[in-house]
Amino acid sequence: MTEKSFILKPNTHTLENGSVTWSSPSNIALVKYWGKKQHQIPENPSISFTLDNCKTITNLTYASKDSRSGFSFDVFLDGEQKDSFKSKIETFFKRIEQYVPFLKDYHFIIKTSNTFPHSSGIASSASGMSALALCLMSIEKELSEDISEEFFKQKASFLARLGSGSACRSVEGDLIVWGSHKAIVGSSDLFGVKYPYNVHQNFKNYQDTILLVDKGEKQVSSTVGHNLMHNHPFATRRFEQAHKNMSQLMNVFENGDLDAFVNIVESEALTLHAMMMTSLPYFILMKPNTLEIINKIWSYRNTNNSKVCFTLDAGANVHVLYPENEKDSVLEFIKNELVVYCQNGQYICDQIGFGAKQLIDE
Ligand code: PMV
Repeated sequence: MTEKSFILKPNTHTLENGSVTWSSPSNIALVKYWGKKQHQIPENPSISFTLDNCKTITNLTYASKDSRSGFSFDVFLDGEQKDSFKSKIETFFKRIEQYVPFLKDYHFIIKTSNTFPHSSGIASSASGMSALALCLMSIEKELSEDISEEFFKQKASFLARLGSGSACRSVEGDLIVWGSHKAIVGSSDLFGVKYPYNVHQNFKNYQDTILLVDKGEKQVSSTVGHNLMHNHPFATRRFEQAHKNMSQLMNVFENGDLDAFVNIVESEALTLHAMMMTSLPYFILMKPNTLEIINKIWSYRNTNNSKVCFTLDAGANVHVLYPENEKDSVLEFIKNELVVYCQNGQYICDQIGFGAKQLIDE
């Protein structure tokens, strides 16, 4: 597939009006995407677990209008008008217009809500952009009935990527690869694909408890962070390392080696933050409590022969990952020893999920 395959042929007709709703999950990367080329093309391949409970639900209503008036839409978050989201969506529409040329033919009302708490520090851009891209694909499907399910998902992921890179990994589950890797057939820089090989039982229903350490605004956005990988002194080595870690994770998924899994995943998280700390300007997104939690996890793992580990995204929150058979014991550990480091004691229990779903409008 190339970019050109996603350009929709000029429409022969316009829909009068309609409404569509999608629910799309968040995802957590095991091998991280950090650094991009033009048009949201990643510098290295990444792989993520799709989450289950943390999701965005977006309802898109559309009514035809004269296309000459340009883009026209209103956005609501939890029922309240949210004009501060408009510029991000306008940028998204501009980026994807050549692939979905019908955007100016409608006035849209975008009503969105997240299942995770407001300003929890959990990025809603992945789930949000993916849900919106899927809604737009439902319109495309109405306009051109002959599109296959595979194309629908690929193009939804392709569009979501242009909204927020990691959003392309939120369309499907449960393990998604984005970025081309020589050993993964079908992997692409343009969209996410389901990990195509056998995955050991050990990873079934893998758990992710998200510890909300700091719910404040990030000091440095991920857009700025990605750009700081240009001219970064360690960039080339980092991108090579990501390729190697992907290859090693492939072995782990095959043989179920949880110790190796822990090493790769934690190293990836710390490398991501090491890249932030060594860019110019440098910055630190971890907080003292992030480090307290990491140390507690290490000591719990050693004394209990556990396979629990952590990963981080571009923020201070900690994702605690563990196999399903440790669910009770690790939750007990979290409650007893980690919750004190969470802002207002907040954490979210989640697990691997299977991707976005269309909801039937009432
Ligand atoms: O999708 P973006 O541009 O917000 O970047 C996300 C980058 C990380 O969350 C830090 C890593 C990843 O692969 O999800």
